[in-house]
Amino acid sequence: MSRQKQIVSQQELDIQKENMNRVRMMNQALPAPPLALVDTYGCQQNEADSEKLRGMLAEMGYGFTTDEARADVIVINTCAVREHAEMRVLGNVGALTHTKKAKPGQIIALCGCMAQEPGMAQRIRNSYRHVDLVFGPHVVWRFPEFLLEVLEHGGRVFSTAASDGVIAEGLPARRDGTLKAWLSIMYGCNNFCSYCIVPYVRGRERSRTPEAILDEARSLIAAGCRDITLLGQNVNSYGRDLDCGVDFSDMIRRINDLDGDFLIRFMTSHPKDAGEKLFRTMAACEKAAHHIHLPFQAGSDRVLKAMNRVYDRRGYLEKVAMARSFMPDVVLTSDVIVGFPGETEAEFEQTLSLIEQVEFDALFTFIYSPRPGTPAAQMPDPVSREEKQRWFDRLLDVQNAISEKKHAAYVGSVQRVLVDGAGNGGAYNLTSRTNGGRLVHLAGPAELVGQFVQAKITGSSKWALFGEAL
Ligand code: SAH
Ligand code: SF4
Ligand code: F3S
Repeated sequence: MSRQKQIVSQQELDIQKENMNRVRMMNQALPAPPLALVDTYGCQQNEADSEKLRGMLAEMGYGFTTDEARADVIVINTCAVREHAEMRVLGNVGALTHTKKAKPGQIIALCGCMAQEPGMAQRIRNSYRHVDLVFGPHVVWRFPEFLLEVLEHGGRVFSTAASDGVIAEGLPARRDGTLKAWLSIMYGCNNFCSYCIVPYVRGRERSRTPEAILDEARSLIAAGCRDITLLGQNVNSYGRDLDCGVDFSDMIRRINDLDGDFLIRFMTSHPKDAGEKLFRTMAACEKAAHHIHLPFQAGSDRVLKAMNRVYDRRGYLEKVAMARSFMPDVVLTSDVIVGFPGETEAEFEQTLSLIEQVEFDALFTFIYSPRPGTPAAQMPDPVSREEKQRWFDRLLDVQNAISEKKHAAYVGSVQRVLVDGAGNGGAYNLTSRTNGGRLVHLAGPAELVGQFVQAKITGSSKWALFGEAL
């Protein structure tokens, strides 16, 4: 698709602004502002979309609630990456029949990646009749139009046509707090890992322009943001579709050059094209956090090939070594899938040995979940769920021991942390994060929230560090 066709035009955006005005006028005529609830599943991309949905709802005159029974509009922003997440959503959507019965006129919307899955809209249409509005991730920017349609004419709206995806700039966003922010730099994915549904529901890779990203970064920093996470399914592909000679490393450097005291984080980095330029740039840019989330998925070359990950074990380990040579203090985290179709116990043990070799700071671990329409879902999968669960538990034991050891090594050191909130009470009354993103339960005065401070690390567990503000 041409770049021009990907960009939602100003004229189309203006129509949505007009729709927002019309909904706001309807809402202003009510005795009290109506309330909305946006419930988010899945990854940070979805969180970022929810911030836009909330931004548009606020513009349309809605207040917010966390109580389903009081909400006039409920938006469920869904994830399709594993079956478990879908079952949870469908269960929760089913339960909303009761709130709707008690509050006729309540509008229920389902959006996000699940809505874009083939067959899902039909399933909702037939079996979840209390859902008024279903729309996919490609048309989030048209939410005001859909909502207006339901408000004015009743009936149900479905908008889930297949698309390679678009870029809609300038939508209002409503963020929770100012200290940390997600900043999408690109959308979609071209990688088609054989187990993964994301490329089918999120369209092809498309990058926002450097100017749009820098403008957003500037306004976040001006608003007090101290921790910016650049988002994309594979941020290392940033700019390839733009032909403007700016790649991801260049973008880190440009953001680093903006005035202000803040940290730059990013996710996710695909190992196939993380490399020397990226690591060198991270090491050279003082605002770039020394943290890389570098999903390896599996330790066996045969499985990696079947997953269509395009790198092998050796290549992965070389990237890790290179990252560490540029940043000896780099924090490494990763994603791993246990029980990919056809994975044998010996192959699983190669995953274990890779984990032991690298010693990740933390891991996000998943048991393989077949996704209809993906190549892996057609592959023979003889290993039982129980067996996969046993492998999974072994993996957790190995990683927990590593995390515990890594965390213990911090004790006695002094770390620069960003204090991001109040803790759960007790001696450690604050929460904070190291440059590498590790959680530190902190003892210190409440006024430190929002500041970078030096913290003496005094204790550790599998999950976190403990310390005192200096
Ligand atoms: N773009 C990112 C991943 C996004 S999905 C990347 O390539 O690294 C987040 C994680 O979910 C993946 O890294 C993978 O570990 C896991 N995942 C994706 N599809 C899955 C499936 N079908 N079953 C189990 N885990 C899956
Ligand atoms: Fe899914 Fe692979 Fe794309 Fe990540 S890179 S979103 S795992 S297809
Ligand atoms: Fe889920 Fe969609 Fe993200 S499938 S992981 S919410 S891109």
